[in-house]
Amino acid sequence: MQEILDAILSSDSTAADFAALKLPDSYRAVTLHKDEEQMFAGLDSRDKDPRKSLHLDEVALPELGPGEALVAVMASAVNYNTVWSSIYEPVSTFGFLERYGRLSPLTKRHDLPYHVLGSDLAGVVLRTGAGVNAWKPGDEVVAHCLSVELESSDGHNDTMMDPEQRIWGFETNFGGLAQIALVKTNQLMPKPAHLTWEEAASPGLVNSTAYRQLVSQNGAGMKQGDNVLIWGASGGLGSYATQYALAGGATPICVVSNDQKAEICRAMGAEAIIDRSAEGYRFWKDENTQDPREWKRLGGRIRELTGGEDVDIVFEHPGRETFGASVYVTRKGGTIVTCASTSGYMHQYDNRYLWMSLKKIVGSHFANYREAWEANRLVAKGKIHPTLSKVYSLDQTGQAALDVHQNKHQGKVGVLCLSPSEGLGVRDAELREKHLPAINRFRDI
Ligand SMILES: NC(=O)c1ccc[n+]([C@@H]2O[C@H](COP(=O)([O-])OP(=O)(O)OC[C@H]3O[C@@H](n4cnc5c(N)ncnc54)[C@H](OP(=O)(O)O)[C@@H]3O)[C@@H](O)[C@H]2O)c1
Repeated sequence: MQEILDAILSSDSTAADFAALKLPDSYRAVTLHKDEEQMFAGLDSRDKDPRKSLHLDEVALPELGPGEALVAVMASAVNYNTVWSSIYEPVSTFGFLERYGRLSPLTKRHDLPYHVLGSDLAGVVLRTGAGVNAWKPGDEVVAHCLSVELESSDGHNDTMMDPEQRIWGFETNFGGLAQIALVKTNQLMPKPAHLTWEEAASPGLVNSTAYRQLVSQNGAGMKQGDNVLIWGASGGLGSYATQYALAGGATPICVVSNDQKAEICRAMGAEAIIDRSAEGYRFWKDENTQDPREWKRLGGRIRELTGGEDVDIVFEHPGRETFGASVYVTRKGGTIVTCASTSGYMHQYDNRYLWMSLKKIVGSHFANYREAWEANRLVAKGKIHPTLSKVYSLDQTGQAALDVHQNKHQGKVGVLCLSPSEGLGVRDAELREKHLPAINRFRDI
């Protein structure tokens, strides 16, 4: 592993040098163990501790298949799917691996008694499989997490529609929270040259998701002038949604839960901010009954902030707790676009407000190949910035996941894999200098 790292850190390594590197038989990776699937049975979600379920193990290097690449991972990031996996909710991810393993002898590699997690990476290509021409050893890359087979025409217009669509490192094995990862080469994209490894590894999953959900015609198709209500506006998804709203000439109305998070939204350029804790919204009177007066109170607050206007789009992901309010506050003809249900997936809303006011609920999930590429391109051009707040080492991934589980973090939490320290990997210092305050925005608070 040291030779691989030396080659990456050296400024004059060539593609031939990388191709000549001997690959190790095993590598260190953050794993879940199948025989621990039931370890949290009976506990409340909040009492399930990722530090107990996430292990740092030495695992065997997987065999490289056609159209794939082995990548030396310099840095990765924690996503909420790391939390879901580590607390075995809503289901154990080993079921995904078993199902994938039934598809073909090649996918059978993924069905193991351990699961290497991680759906983001920045690193360097080590080897490519048969049929790969666009990438070669030594290429500095980031990987998006869309894994598809594309053997069915269903996915040929929009790769998210492939019936064999999976999220790499969540529904497949050999993810990015490791020293080496296995990806399909169609997941690879150029690493933004002005960013460090850990910065480059952090936008991937959430940036692509926010792009499809808010900007793409497959999501809400946001346009200039739209008012966009963004739940969790300083969190993983929300910190990108806020940037997209501002960059696209829309007005974000940012919902957060404390002063620090409000300050971050202001630093991004947002002016309309709602502190849901300080303002004490209680959309549910009890477990089964919502309180429409609280929806109205939120709607009134939005009008105060917008000069009397309602929102064109609600960027939804908290789910059960907020969905009734989200449907209510959307303007006539507007869109509620949802990609998650963090607080519960059985939503309840008053349908009269939907149909009588001709509103739309749109489901959105990750991003297709092209959307992921466009979202990465915007980062590479310095138009959208990473929102990295804190970086952990690979052996502290459990703590990193706990921070996200407990909502103690801001933006994104990074993980150093092979990279020996933060701050490495910048190739375009000039572009970096231009955007440094924006790049460090989430670090400074
Ligand atoms: N479908 C997809 O492709 C996709 C992609 C990425 C993420 N997701 C899912 O989306 C969800 C959010 O992911 P993320 O990365 O943005 O997580 P995150 O970094 O934890 O951010 C979520 C934010 O939502 C807010 N929030 C949490 N619970 C809430 C509640 N009950 N009511 C109102 N606001 C609440 C919190 O902000 P405040 O406390 O400041 O309000 C939190 O910072 C997760 O469930 C994740 O699995 C789905």
